[in-house]
This record gives sequence, structure tokens and C-alpha cells, in this order.
Amino acid sequence: MGKVALVTGASRGIGRSIALGLARDGFDLALNDIDRQISDLHEVAAEVQAIGRRSLLVTADVRDKTAVHGMVGQAIEGLGQVDVLVNNAGILTSARIEDITEAQWDDVFAVNAKGVFLVTQAVLPHMRRRRSGRIVNIASIGGKRGGPGQAHYCATKAAVLEFTRVLAMELEDSGITANSVCPGIIMTEMGKVNLGDQASIEKWEAATALRRIGQPDDIAGAVCFFASDASAFITGQSLNVCGGVIFDGG
Ligand SMILES: NC(=O)c1ccc[n+]([C@@H]2O[C@H](COP(=O)([O-])OP(=O)(O)OC[C@H]3O[C@@H](n4cnc5c(N)ncnc54)[C@H](O)[C@@H]3O)[C@@H](O)[C@H]2O)c1
Repeated sequence: MGKVALVTGASRGIGRSIALGLARDGFDLALNDIDRQISDLHEVAAEVQAIGRRSLLVTADVRDKTAVHGMVGQAIEGLGQVDVLVNNAGILTSARIEDITEAQWDDVFAVNAKGVFLVTQAVLPHMRRRRSGRIVNIASIGGKRGGPGQAHYCATKAAVLEFTRVLAMELEDSGITANSVCPGIIMTEMGKVNLGDQASIEKWEAATALRRIGQPDDIAGAVCFFASDASAFITGQSLNVCGGVIFDGG
């Protein structure tokens, strides 16, 4: 039996690219998203199957602990195991701090931060039993260097980065690694919040050393690396995949 990856928020954008990248690398896929995205999720499942891998739809809202445990159980039962967890599901809203509503604050933390915690917690007993696993959390360069108008979102991504570091410490010699990937500005439905018009696109191209906007497949490559044997000695780290918008250590 091949290796299995569970990807949250896999119906479109970065999650879809990650799922297809992992399928090309030989993984069978448990594909998660919310019920509303079921038809897009079916399309990704068909694409995974066209690559020659198995796929299983495991819809659940990552904010809901019961649903999350059900999702992980379904993935293990349906595909036999979970070798790789990619916590990718996320939401973004924009507002300056004086204008962020309590609901906006709670919503973005519930999906982006609590969701990562709940899914990770649900998968860990299985990975620990097998003494093997890879957890890859999709954070953001915004979690390292925030921008005006997205304080609540950036705070969730900083939370994911620190959660991942502590997770790696607690995993010790369990055989499980945990790392974060920090996308820059990527052209997806979410990315369009920052790339709404030609002027914004040109602004971000100019702010990027490689002078282009990122594509979902740019992120998939980094996730596939963290899912592969090539990254066996890397844990608790974060990798900026941003074309050079920010530079760690400088
Ligand atoms: N696009 C960017 O520029 C960018 C930059 C940095 C980080 N990211 C991060 O990358 C990840 C993917 O973003 P994207 O650009 O593909 O966004 P997207 O909006 O295209 O996709 C996000 C997916 O997550 C799903 N999702 C949302 N809430 C969910 C929930 N409660 N339970 C399960 N699934 C849920 C959505 O339905 C959607 O399919 C997110 O974590 C995002 O914060 C994106």
C-alpha cells in the first residue's frame, strides 16, 4: 500500500496544488474541505485518480472537534493510514485594528489557529503508534512580518509558526517531524484579496526579488519536500516560499 496524505482545504488554490503534487509523488490522498466545496473537491479527487493514486473525500469543518476526529477516523479507515498531514485550510479578511470586529477576530483564529491544533491533535495518536509521520503547517510570511489591515490574520499565522516549533519539541524522537511553509503572495481566491487590481499586482511584483506573483504549485513543491525522505532531519523549521519578499535573518 502507498503512503497516504491528508490535506485540509484541498478543494482549490494552494491545497489543491499540494494534493496533486503529493499524488504525483506517489501519495494517496484524503481530501478535506467544508461541505460547501464538495463539488470542487470531487474534481480534485478525479484529478488525483487520473494521476493513478487513490483519493477519499473527508469533508469536515476544521473548527469542529467532533467533525475533525470523524475526518481523521474516516481517512485512516478508508486509506489505511495517514503518513502526512498538511494543515492548509485558512481564511483571510482585511480590516484595520480599530475596525476588526470580534466576530472577524474569532473566525480567523477558529479556522487558522484552532483548526491546526484540532487536526494535529486528532492525527497524533495514530502517528505516534506508527512511530512515523510528517506534519506540514501552512503559515504565511505575514506571520513573520505583518502588514497593515491584516493584524488578526497575521496573528493567527504567527500562532501557527510557534505552535509548530513547540510541536516539534514535544515530538522528540517519536519519528514524526513538524514544519511550516510560509507562502508569500500567491494567486488564489484568497490571494486576490491582496491582488485585486493591476496596480496591486504590479506593487507586489516590484516588492518581490523574483519579480513575479507566486502560483499554488510554488507552494506544493516545498510541501512535497517536507513530506519526502529528503527532509528527514528537518523539524520545527519554517520555509519562506515567497520569491524573496522577506528574508529570514536580515
Ligand atoms: N494565497 C496567498 O497569498 C497566501 C499567502 C500566505 C498564506 N496562505 C495560506 O495558504 C493556505 C491556502 O490558501 P489559499 O490561498 O489556497 O486560499 P483559498 O481561499 O483559495 O483556499 C482555502 C481553502 O480552505 C478551505 N477552508 C476554509 N475554511 C475551512 C474550514 N473551516 N474547514 C475546512 N476547510 C476550510 C476553503 O474552503 C478553501 O478551499 C491558507 O492557510 C492561507 O492562509 C495563502
